[in-house]
Amino acid sequence: MPPIQLLSPRLANQIAAGEVVERPASVVKELVENALDAGADRVDVEIEQGGVKLIRVRDDGSGIAEQDLPLALSRHATSKIVSLDDLEAVASLGFRGEALASISSVSRLTLTSRTAAQEAASRVEVEGRDMDARISPAAHPVGTTVEVRDLFFNTPARRKFLRTEKTEFNHVEECVRRQALSRFDAGFTLRHNQRVVQSLRPAESPLDKERRIGALCGQQFIDNAVLIDAEATGLRLWGWVALPTFSRSQADLQYFFVNGRVIRDRLVAHAVRQAYRDVLYNNRHPAFVLYLEVDPATVDVNVHPTKHEVRFRDGRLVHDFIFRTLHKALADVRPDDHLRGAVAQSFGRENAQGVPGAAGHPDPSAPAWSGQPAGAGVFYCLNESPRSAVGRKKCRPTLSFLFAWCLIRRYPFFKLDTV
Ligand SMILES: Nc1ncnc2c1ncn2[C@@H]1O[C@H](COP(=O)(O)OP(=O)(O)O)[C@@H](O)[C@H]1O
Ligand SMILES: [Mg+2]
Repeated sequence: MPPIQLLSPRLANQIAAGEVVERPASVVKELVENALDAGADRVDVEIEQGGVKLIRVRDDGSGIAEQDLPLALSRHATSKIVSLDDLEAVASLGFRGEALASISSVSRLTLTSRTAAQEAASRVEVEGRDMDARISPAAHPVGTTVEVRDLFFNTPARRKFLRTEKTEFNHVEECVRRQALSRFDAGFTLRHNQRVVQSLRPAESPLDKERRIGALCGQQFIDNAVLIDAEATGLRLWGWVALPTFSRSQADLQYFFVNGRVIRDRLVAHAVRQAYRDVLYNNRHPAFVLYLEVDPATVDVNVHPTKHEVRFRDGRLVHDFIFRTLHKALADVRPDDHLRGAVAQSFGRENAQGVPGAAGHPDPSAPAWSGQPAGAGVFYCLNESPRSAVGRKKCRPTLSFLFAWCLIRRYPFFKLDTV
């Protein structure tokens, strides 16, 4: 056997890149997470040729000081934690300090940034194996732009695994969708080959949040979902769950966030499946966008480099809380909620409207929840349920038309102008 040698930093980075950089969407995920960690209010993502030719992510966050630029591209260099205690209570999306190092080892990367304290911006460029960073002055507002060109240009084996431009872009779009669902307070734009694919303003009000959900998950989903908000024993679960009448043939509309991080977790999946067990056929899948908020110290996010998995300190408690909350929410769905869902589908709904308020939690031992239909509804308007002024106004023409139509069908002698 040959003697043991230390790997060169470049090769070590390229090996590590295999774990975090699988395709263009993984690059987008890391760069957008960095932007959100930097407190950005706005994140613009530009893609060319599915991300293989160019991925550009621009933000208006805190920026990186000039002297820190080369360090940002080094492996195990992070501003997000300094000790094991920090790691155990980490609240930022990143903390491993390896994304930029990995990405820059398999692409041509340019990082341009400016902090509020700096008069001018600086740029650092690195290219694949040539890891010597070149720094130059640049023009840029406060914030950061990262450009990743020619992904996998120096790792042909990886490049071979890339799919068509359309498929790769679909992955990017899904990634941006998840990020936009995780942070309502930030605005996002996504462009592909110079065409705007998604443009989302920050969503502050409940109505704006519903609009964003509608834009990202489909208007049908939000029209057929109930808003839940439950809290118990230091856990909070809120978000939108679709009525059983709006089930899917695939598990493609299921988003679960833990402290703002989208995760796939067997324990969570099991709890949700159990809650829907009595109201869904076996081969149907529920649709939901759910947010679990827990004390960061009670969840380990450092399970996998992509951080898609988490480990809860008290998995049983989390499982039971999710199950009980959803089970109660679904059991309390009134028959007319189903009917409204069915009517909404058959009429093809137009508008997302007011959102019910959040729930209190009278009994701290049991999950308190507030489940109310989230989307606009013909019957809601008829019943004069509390809707936003905008909602009511938009619904009125539809309502009047339906009312007139019913009367004419039932009483042919009624004239339209009697309504
Ligand atoms: N968009 C950005 N805005 C501000 N700082 C950034 C940005 N992207 C990266 N950085 C800085 O570069 C460091 C390294 O980034 P990264 O390699 O993704 O590691 P991590 O996010 O795990 O810390 C971050 O800790 C952060 O300080
Ligand atoms: Mg990062």
